[in-house]
Amino acid sequence: MTTYSIDVTLSQTKKEKPQSDQLQFGKVFTDHMFIMDYTEGQGWHDARIVPYQPITLDPASMIFHYGQSVFEGLKAYVTKKEQVLLFRPDENFKRLNKSNDRLCIPHVDENLALEALKQLIKIDREWIPTAEGTSLYIRPFVIATEPYLGVAPSDRYQFIIILSPVGSYYKEGIAPVKIAVESEFVRAVAGGTGTAKTGGNYASSLKAQQLSDSKGYSQVLWLDGVERKYIEEVGSMNIFFKIDGEVVTPSVNGSILEGITRKSIIELLKHWDMPVTERRISMEEIKQAYSEGKLEEAFGTGTAAVISPIGELFWNNEKMVINDGNTGEVSQKLYDTLTGIQNGTVEDPFGWAV
Ligand code: COI
Repeated sequence: MTTYSIDVTLSQTKKEKPQSDQLQFGKVFTDHMFIMDYTEGQGWHDARIVPYQPITLDPASMIFHYGQSVFEGLKAYVTKKEQVLLFRPDENFKRLNKSNDRLCIPHVDENLALEALKQLIKIDREWIPTAEGTSLYIRPFVIATEPYLGVAPSDRYQFIIILSPVGSYYKEGIAPVKIAVESEFVRAVAGGTGTAKTGGNYASSLKAQQLSDSKGYSQVLWLDGVERKYIEEVGSMNIFFKIDGEVVTPSVNGSILEGITRKSIIELLKHWDMPVTERRISMEEIKQAYSEGKLEEAFGTGTAAVISPIGELFWNNEKMVINDGNTGEVSQKLYDTLTGIQNGTVEDPFGWAV
């Protein structure tokens, strides 16, 4: 086994921790962070854990101009037996490198990243909240730091991991949300960067999100960028429907993010012998299923919210109220099982919890 050399500088002061039951999503950060630099010719170097602090960057750093960056999101929980659990962290670092490929960023050593994360969490362990629905959200990211205004891959980067104790992503918790189908703006197209976890995808989603917000909807449902017919994602999450007893989700097609929660749900449903299919799904089909009384459940999936039930879909001036606006049985069971595996209260037959 390789041992990695990670320099540690502990913070001289400890910040006040927020109360567990008052946590929001991503507003406060722990006492330390991990940081590592990349310089062309030298590779990744100077892996270190330091007190959480602002970073100083040249205003010409390429991240500010052309958005060359990637990020990940995962969570840590502490079990009743005081064990710290991570959920499939290897999948996150694998995906980080896939995103790096797409953005012309050099690969990060996945084993080093995991080791760094474990050391960082050990140091900031007291920050892991324990109240129901809370966790320590982990945000690894890479930014291009070369000061240069030419459009080209940067020759310098920083890989950073920060930690944030969080409550539910939506203030409603697992309560069903209202979603408007977006027929004008699109999130991504095949051949673009939709499958990479890169900031630009999220920046380009804001306009539609803002408009739907002003009409009283929580998120938008994204359609494909070519025909505006086929369903892609919901907000910043993957999407699932239960139609006439079968769970369906759009197949990955070059513009949809390959969610780790999405993948885990498919594996979990198969483990339960429940019918689950990845295929193309049109909005017409959803409308038809709704009219026939066969649209039983709809939900978004992601690390942040885990499962977010959809209570209402608005499309073409028509409202579809799903499952009387309540959380469906399968959505709830998936939420309970996944969060249970994540926090150690449900047996993990897959070895997902590390
Ligand atoms: C997630 O659902 O985990 C996401 O990626 C959303 C995140 C950008 C807050």
